[in-house]
Amino acid sequence: MTTQILSTDEALPFQTAVSEAVRLLNAGQVVALPTETVYGLAADALNPEAVARIFEAKERPSFDPLIVHLPHRKDLETVAEVPEDIEPVLKKIAEAFWPGPLTIVLPKKACVPDIVTAGLPTVAVRVSKDPVFTRVVRTFNKPLAAPSANRFGSLSPTSASAVKAELDGRIPLILDGGASNHGLESTIIKIEPNSPKPLITILRPGPITQDDLKPFGIIKLGYKPDKKIRHGAAAPEPAIEAPGMLASHYAPRTPLRLMENPEDFIPEPGKKYALLSYRGEADDGYTELTEWVGMHILSPGKGKLIEAGVRLFYALRELDKLGVDEIIAEPVAEHGLGAAIMDRLRRASVKRQ
Ligand code: TXA
Ligand code: MG
Repeated sequence: MTTQILSTDEALPFQTAVSEAVRLLNAGQVVALPTETVYGLAADALNPEAVARIFEAKERPSFDPLIVHLPHRKDLETVAEVPEDIEPVLKKIAEAFWPGPLTIVLPKKACVPDIVTAGLPTVAVRVSKDPVFTRVVRTFNKPLAAPSANRFGSLSPTSASAVKAELDGRIPLILDGGASNHGLESTIIKIEPNSPKPLITILRPGPITQDDLKPFGIIKLGYKPDKKIRHGAAAPEPAIEAPGMLASHYAPRTPLRLMENPEDFIPEPGKKYALLSYRGEADDGYTELTEWVGMHILSPGKGKLIEAGVRLFYALRELDKLGVDEIIAEPVAEHGLGAAIMDRLRRASVKRQ
């Protein structure tokens, strides 16, 4: 199979690209589409054979459920039950963040095939804000299942060329919508009734931060911001409910080590290293530790977390091409979006089994 990339940057190519994507989706095929977080690999969520093609292309194990993307916020009840006891808060959260980078786990409706939810009684739902994705899903007019468009366990793609590097020859079409706005996967939450305020569990940290969600309820972390995870350590099984949140995930092929203290870095003679730097400042203690074969700076000088998030997976992909023995990653400030960036770096630094 040849993988075609279609541009969407002007009116006519946009129309052509959308029509071709919708034609393929109607035929039960998979299509890679931009979203504001990362690129997704989409298929008709209500067609189990189409969804099976996603698992095949990604080599994704069947125990890892997919996110379902709706055409409109109001379509929620076509795929999910809205329990009465969380309805008011769910409505407020959906109004505040949809369309946007937030995924909500809810009890599923019977029409959602088991292959989408890996047999779970719940479904993860989101409404994307990306103009290309929005046009495709609204023209298709049915929910789309779409995980990130990478091989299982690898880095999420934040550009059409990154999708091609992951899935070339395995999928018929990629729509090029330019670089992803956020560069990090959506925040995943579940909501439970609780008095006096509902309980919001963050299953995966992302662009919608703990502070963004605080006004809506009591926040609980369903993932482990475990400072002890180190490269080479046995991968601890996370006590979480998002089965895809494996300890080793979002990883480049080159081993990566999150180095929380620059003093701990002792280069081994003959080994080649590359640095993922946060601000690229000598004061931070990393840039001059050794003769780096390559260095990528996430947010030069200022250290802006939003900029760092956008560049993270791109920088890791570039460092992965250098053929070094190890990538050393400098931590970022762990507040706001920094929680999501550090989560991805910790998962990237756990040795694959
Ligand atoms: O930003 C995003 O969320 C991107 C774009 C394409 O939408 N998608 C994405 O999908 O990151 P994926 O499949 O790479 O990650 C989805 C995560 C997995 O960790 C999966 O386990 C979790 O969502 N998930 C899906 N359904 C779930 C459910 N019913 N309960 C708990 N976790 C669920
Ligand atoms: Mg993924």
